[in-house]
Amino acid sequence: MRRTLVPLAAVGLLTVLLWPATGGAAAPGPRRAAAGQDPDAYGHELYLQSCASCHGVNPAGPSNYPTVPSLKDVGGASAVDWALRSGRMPWRSTKGPASRGRPAFDLSQIRAISLYVGDQVGDRDIPTVDPSQGDVQRGRDLYAQACSACHGMNGAGSAVGEGNVAPSLQGIDALSVGEVMKIGPGNMPVFHGGIYDAAGVNSIAAYTDTLDKNVDNPGGLPIGGKGPVPEGFVAWLIGLGVLVLFAKVVGGRN
Ligand code: HEC
Ligand code: HEC
Repeated sequence: MRRTLVPLAAVGLLTVLLWPATGGAAAPGPRRAAAGQDPDAYGHELYLQSCASCHGVNPAGPSNYPTVPSLKDVGGASAVDWALRSGRMPWRSTKGPASRGRPAFDLSQIRAISLYVGDQVGDRDIPTVDPSQGDVQRGRDLYAQACSACHGMNGAGSAVGEGNVAPSLQGIDALSVGEVMKIGPGNMPVFHGGIYDAAGVNSIAAYTDTLDKNVDNPGGLPIGGKGPVPEGFVAWLIGLGVLVLFAKVVGGRN
């Protein structure tokens, strides 16, 4: 009896511990799509539940608050897909640009909402990005010209004014690169067409794929790629520690 109870209890405990990290993302929030349900109707339903209170009942119409953009203007399905996959939306903060967080929806729900909003605002195009089709050297050149000023050549990110932070791109997925280049969120410019055609985007994504958390960090440890704020803080802390040590050593010599 005990032999089976102990592992059972262990499994139960594990399930409880792991729950929020796995299935918990979608529960107790919106319910899942019923088999065979029209994805557009499902996207509409999720939109009304989770987005309409701020962005308005009609995505192509006005939003409900002056500080909330109408989804007509932000970049169609690509913007919604990026904002939901990166956990920026639904908005949790009360001020400032949204930041990365745990996604509130699973991928099929995200696609449903993205395509529903895309349909309503007349842009359902989500780019296909394939870094294996890109040229890393060309990507590096394009990135140096177009992206490094804000995100840094090593992708560590930086504060870029008016409360905007160009986030760390270390470990960023290729699709997000294609989506944000198309939509230009915050004060990031739009990079679309011309040299930023599909081949250009694939090449930039091939370069950003090399910005792994564990390489190309001349400043030292990547500190979880959390971006400039904690990194600056840690740099400050370590710097201060080194200064104190140095002062002690110098002081000790006298
Ligand atoms: C509590 C209010 C609120 C809710 C709920 C909300 N949003 Fe937003 N949304 C905002 C605000 C404020 C901004 C502008 C801030 C920003 O861009 O970071 C925004 C911006 C956006 C953007 C533009 C992102 C960018 O940076 O260009 C998209 C896309 C978006 N929301 C989609 C959604 C979707 C889809 C939902 C529902 C799943 C949703 N939002 C729910 C308040 C909200
Ligand atoms: C003027 C500064 C600026 C330039 C230049 C710029 N970005 Fe950005 N980028 C930003 C800001 C600010 C954000 C955050 C926007 C937000 O959260 O609403 C951002 C967000 C991103 C994200 C989303 C990261 C995430 O956490 O989801 C990616 C990917 C990205 N940029 C890639 C690029 C690439 C590739 C280029 C060059 C083609 C580039 N950026 C050029 C300022 C910039």
